[in-house]
Amino acid sequence: MYKGFLHTHYLVVCLFLLLYVIKTVLLLSNKNNLLTAFSKKTRIFEIVISVLFLLTGIYLMTQIPYGGKYDYLLWIKLIMIFSSIPVAVIGFRKQRKMLAALSLLMITGSFGLGEIYHKKKGIAKDPETKTESHEVAATDGKSLYEANCVLCHGSDGKLGMAGAKDLGTTLLDQAGIKEIIVHGKGAMPAAPVNDEQAMAIAEYVNSQIKGH
Ligand code: HEC
Repeated sequence: MYKGFLHTHYLVVCLFLLLYVIKTVLLLSNKNNLLTAFSKKTRIFEIVISVLFLLTGIYLMTQIPYGGKYDYLLWIKLIMIFSSIPVAVIGFRKQRKMLAALSLLMITGSFGLGEIYHKKKGIAKDPETKTESHEVAATDGKSLYEANCVLCHGSDGKLGMAGAKDLGTTLLDQAGIKEIIVHGKGAMPAAPVNDEQAMAIAEYVNSQIKGH
């Protein structure tokens, strides 16, 4: 579900950017007639992708694990997206090149911010991407779990943020859990822990969370 929305959002954002790049290039190169014709032809398409853009974006916002030090990136991204809308509308309606270019810059910038946010926070699209280290020196399974897993799975394993699976009902054994901690899976990034720590977490999940 989460991944479906994330992929749809990406696709829609890319189409949206493409459309705006074309329109901005036409405007900047004084091809006003072509721009009008292009805008007319793509009107319905633009409405559809704008609505999908917002709906998938809003859904994803409700699924993100909040409370990290990088949340501000997300807020800046949101402010940039929403303030780029009036800038774009005025820019293209009144054919003000500076404003149109500025709105494209804002949209592209917020796309970049989203990427940085996801990298920093470790909501990886590529499961092998290591997250920033939540270093806990000890090999205490519980505190390692608290530091690396609670964000998505919750302390009881049932939170389900970012599409995370319920650990209370997992059918995996300790070795299988360790495997996922080390390599990640789907939207879950590999945990930034060493082998011994991964083992301690797997043991904790297997004995304290699974089956509860
Ligand atoms: C960024 C969010 C996130 C974090 C952090 C995270 N997970 Fe996950 N986890 C997921 C997602 C999403 C899935 C589902 C992956 C899939 O099946 O595609 C998942 C699946 C799992 C599974 C497989 C469950 C099953 O039955 O298939 C286990 C076990 C697991 N996580 C354990 C952990 C442990 C232990 C940690 C901490 C080291 C952790 N996760 C950290 C998001 C996360």
